[in-house]
Amino acid sequence: MKVLVTGATGYIGSAVTDHLAAAGHQVVALTRGAEPRPGRTWQAQVVGDTADPGSLAGAVTPDIEAVIHLAPPSGDADVDSAAVEALAAPLRGTGRPFVYTSGIWVLGATGAAQEVGEDAPTHPIDIVGYRPQIEQQVLAGTADGIRAVVVRPGIVYGRGGGIPAILVDRARQGGVPEYYGEEGVRWPTVHVDDLAELFVAAVERAEAGTVWHGVGESAVPVRDLARAAGRAAGVLAAPHTVPVEQAADVFGAPFAEALALDQSVSGAAARTALGWRPRRPGAVAELTSGSYRPVEVFGAPDGPATDVDVAAIRALVAEVEHAQQHELVDRFLSLFRREDPVWTTGHGKRLSGFEEIAAFTQKVLPGATADGTAVYDVERVLFLRPDVAAVNVRQQPVRHDGTRIADRPEGRPFYIVVKEDGAWRVGAAQNTVAVD
Ligand SMILES: NC(=O)c1ccc[n+]([C@@H]2O[C@H](COP(=O)([O-])OP(=O)(O)OC[C@H]3O[C@@H](n4cnc5c(N)ncnc54)[C@H](OP(=O)(O)O)[C@@H]3O)[C@@H](O)[C@H]2O)c1
Repeated sequence: MKVLVTGATGYIGSAVTDHLAAAGHQVVALTRGAEPRPGRTWQAQVVGDTADPGSLAGAVTPDIEAVIHLAPPSGDADVDSAAVEALAAPLRGTGRPFVYTSGIWVLGATGAAQEVGEDAPTHPIDIVGYRPQIEQQVLAGTADGIRAVVVRPGIVYGRGGGIPAILVDRARQGGVPEYYGEEGVRWPTVHVDDLAELFVAAVERAEAGTVWHGVGESAVPVRDLARAAGRAAGVLAAPHTVPVEQAADVFGAPFAEALALDQSVSGAAARTALGWRPRRPGAVAELTSGSYRPVEVFGAPDGPATDVDVAAIRALVAEVEHAQQHELVDRFLSLFRREDPVWTTGHGKRLSGFEEIAAFTQKVLPGATADGTAVYDVERVLFLRPDVAAVNVRQQPVRHDGTRIADRPEGRPFYIVVKEDGAWRVGAAQNTVAVD
């Protein structure tokens, strides 16, 4: 399909255009300026400004087979309504899809209700006050022969961006992770690449007049997100909550209210009816060991194939951490290569071969975390060959609540990891205590 996308240069729009192109669609990006944007996954660019609906006349040419409207609201209901009218009108009577991006904040606080679905009434908070009206305007296009669809994303994360990146920046600036409002606030979340796949599914097969929640995890405690954001910022401290009034001084009252909103929202309908399969790591895992904490990579070309390998190596090290923290002997051992692995411990004890490593692990891991554990962060990956990499890890001692134990030294694990049968495993490992 030839798809016109507004907001194509944005956070969600960039992922949506990537996934549309990967699915074989042709993207026409509507941008505010005419300057070319090299490296983008679109075929053509048209100029238009959704805050100036008159500029949109002619953007939806007869060859456009679908529109995805991702540009944000202007703050003026009449302007946004006129923009929707300008973009949707040319599709009348064609049965072609018009996908409007709203958001789960239109539902308001969901309170005790668990996993609220698309049939729930809207109770918009101030920041999205008139958005339900725009949703209704879009859906009314069904009667005029438009395949009108609304997607309401949760809090979007991944690719190092979105609102979670604000948590990371705040933790870095303030030296302590923070979140907003009540202690138990939860956010429904979605990975930006999973969400982009939902947009592709919506354009390809959502029925006219339907609303979809783009939600991968229905209710993630924001305290956990803040702790993980602290980890991404290199701040191993207990998160603290900031009262909404105080957050309003930083973010403005409407956004502060949104950040403090407690919601539990279901994304099940899209899975069932559209076959949507969110499959990226969850928001906490992504913050802890994914795109929010860049890794230095050497010896491999920039590109998606290297990204996949680096992500898999980071996932392997995250597994090492998990197995250590939970004293999971078998899981820990499964991360080693079977054939002749070697491990030199932080105290210089050399273990040669799988059997020696297994015997040692069985002896020392149970009970090892009684007075604390450690976090493991990948800092540098050197590809020696496409299937062999040297990995520098930073190991920091922490209490069970994730806060740093200040008087214990860090470790500097060094792993040689090997890719066999598509899976990365540890072939050789050495740990060294870091003494200043
Ligand atoms: N991020 C989230 O967690 C989230 C959650 C739920 C809903 N949403 C909704 O999803 C949509 C996209 O969000 P996002 O996070 O991707 O936003 P974003 O990163 O700020 O991107 C906004 C995009 O819209 C374009 N744009 C802004 N004003 C425009 C205008 N007047 N005319 C034409 N294009 C304009 C920007 O283009 P330029 O390059 O010209 O700036 C950019 O491409 C928004 O409607 C947002 O409310 C986002």
